[in-house]
Amino acid sequence: MHYHWLKTLKSPHLWVVVFLFVVGVILHYPQQILATDSASLFSFLGLSRHAVERIFLLLPLGYAGFFIGTRAGLISLAIATAIMLPRVFLISQYFADALFETIGVIVIGSLVLLWIYYDRKRKEQEQQILTTLEESNKQLQSYSKALEINHRRLKETQAQVIQAEKLTSLGQLAASIAHEINNPLSGTLVYTQLLARKVERGEADNEVTLDYLSKMESELVRSTKLVQNLLNFARQSTPEFQSVNMNTVVNHALDLVSHSVEEQDIRVFNELEPSLPEITADPSQIQQVCLSLIINAVQAMPRGGRLTLRTYVHNSKIKLEVQDTGIGIPPENIGKLFTPFFSTKADVKGVGLGLAVAYGIIHRHKGRIEAQSKVGEGSTFTVTIPLQTGSLEKDS
Ligand SMILES: Nc1ncnc2c1ncn2[C@@H]1O[C@H](COP(=O)(O)OP(=O)(O)O)[C@@H](O)[C@H]1O
Ligand SMILES: [Mg+2]
Repeated sequence: MHYHWLKTLKSPHLWVVVFLFVVGVILHYPQQILATDSASLFSFLGLSRHAVERIFLLLPLGYAGFFIGTRAGLISLAIATAIMLPRVFLISQYFADALFETIGVIVIGSLVLLWIYYDRKRKEQEQQILTTLEESNKQLQSYSKALEINHRRLKETQAQVIQAEKLTSLGQLAASIAHEINNPLSGTLVYTQLLARKVERGEADNEVTLDYLSKMESELVRSTKLVQNLLNFARQSTPEFQSVNMNTVVNHALDLVSHSVEEQDIRVFNELEPSLPEITADPSQIQQVCLSLIINAVQAMPRGGRLTLRTYVHNSKIKLEVQDTGIGIPPENIGKLFTPFFSTKADVKGVGLGLAVAYGIIHRHKGRIEAQSKVGEGSTFTVTIPLQTGSLEKDS
């Protein structure tokens, strides 16, 4: 309390107010204090009558209200009134004018104080709103941090699901791929035995040897390529967006299933648009989508049929169609195809992740994937990816 008063006394504003009041008192009572009249006080301004003394009191009042506070302004208003009243009632010869003027000063002073009061209140409210905003902002930031962490975790899980589905596809392919690799290896083995026999008998001239070696080489190159293709597909690659030719990706996927395709008496119709523009995409993820669609098509045609792979451009978008003449999908299942773990393949141990993962991948490429089907006639899966993928999430 003491301290508060000391501080107020030390404030230069208080002394300005006191000074203005002293001047105000002198202007009000020049005869009593200085033994002269107010007109002569202001004669240098050319004034013949008092004109300033009451209005002058608005100064300390406004000053106090503005620089010290509303309460100081009210006290000043009371002091100003106290200074004015004796003159009105005891000294002035023009009672009515003086009273009217005094009331005018009090009203104007009150209005000024009121204005200062509301202005200050408004500013306080603004400040409060600002503080609240700042707090909300901080809270938002912490939320967004938490979201970011969740997002990262989700991405990790997503990557794990993608990898899991890859392994499922590989599992489903394993038998036929083993066969695929076994063929060239047995071929090579036969050639080595033949060659060895010829060398033993001294029948192996350069021409024959080179012929056998080149046959063995081409068989081995074939299986090496297949294994490479497999390894590339199985590898857990970090997502990488680059220029991708959809046709190349489709062909790679087809290579991986070629054996089951042949085995099941499926004819492949390759309708890939040769001048297809490239898209910005993650080739390994797109290949996984193609592979899932092709494997599904193959699995839908256990007794053979036609597999049509079609690419083309439509409305600045790349389209890929994988069409089969298989068992088809009943209408009540069409809506569930892309739901994780939806599978009707008890026999081949379907996990039901292929289409769900494909959906996620295509969604991240800002594209769409749709299915059309008629039971008994076959199904067509259409993937649409925009050519201008500009704002792809590089890190997704
Ligand atoms: N080409 C298709 N023909 C018929 N049914 C299909 C085809 N593609 C997908 N389906 C249906 O969608 C389901 C989900 O497919 P998918 O997500 O790849 O899982 P999975 O192949 O492991 O069952 C399949 O079980 C099948 O019923
Ligand atoms: Mg599948």
